[in-house]
Amino acid sequence: MEKLLAPSILAGDWWNIGEQIEATLRGGADIIHFDVMDGHFVPNITVGPEILTSISRRVNVPVDAHLMIENPDRYIPSFVEAGAKWISVHIENVPHIHRTLTLIRELGAKAGVVLNPGTPLSAVEEAIHYADYVLLMSVNPGFSGQRFIERSLERLSLLRDMRDRLNPDCLIEVDGGVKEDNVVEVVRAGADVVVVGSGIFSAKDVEAQTRKLKDLISSAVAV
Ligand code: DX5
Ligand code: ZN
Repeated sequence: MEKLLAPSILAGDWWNIGEQIEATLRGGADIIHFDVMDGHFVPNITVGPEILTSISRRVNVPVDAHLMIENPDRYIPSFVEAGAKWISVHIENVPHIHRTLTLIRELGAKAGVVLNPGTPLSAVEEAIHYADYVLLMSVNPGFSGQRFIERSLERLSLLRDMRDRLNPDCLIEVDGGVKEDNVVEVVRAGADVVVVGSGIFSAKDVEAQTRKLKDLISSAVAV
């Protein structure tokens, strides 16, 4: 299965975000990762459906909306309307996960369930049956530029085992602190989709940096 690279534009420069997104696409980005934060579920506030609309209209790859917000059910239809093709919600704040993932799928998007670093993998053992992807956080959500939590590598390979056993079609996405120096390990441990924020946007040449990461990802063979 081809491994996918998803630049997290939260780490970009909002003044030049269109140009930066285009640079990642020229460099081989497969998905645009769009972080939505409400200042309640996580200690930061970011962007919403209006900005997503401007982006999704202009890019020809899927936009992946990572919802770090309270009561995501209320906003899911607006994000689908805005053009999000992938939508993920956190298991920690969704009481009726079957209902929420089914809603996302019924609206025509891929449905993802997210785990914070402190949440046991067993929390998604049921939801994985009806999720298109599981997003494993390798930092505590809220900010770009944090350090990768090393324990995430072991969690990744355990999650891959769970996925292989329960729903082989479900993808595993990893988000937080992934850079050129650990991306190969992350893919080898089990990631199918790799989110990279500061590891791309802090480079001078965003296109070249995206290409470099994409090449590293493609060369890493999962073991
Ligand atoms: C963190 C976000 C991430 C973040 C990734 O809450 O979900 O997507 O922007 O940025 P880096 O790769 O810099 O950790
Ligand atoms: Zn994210």
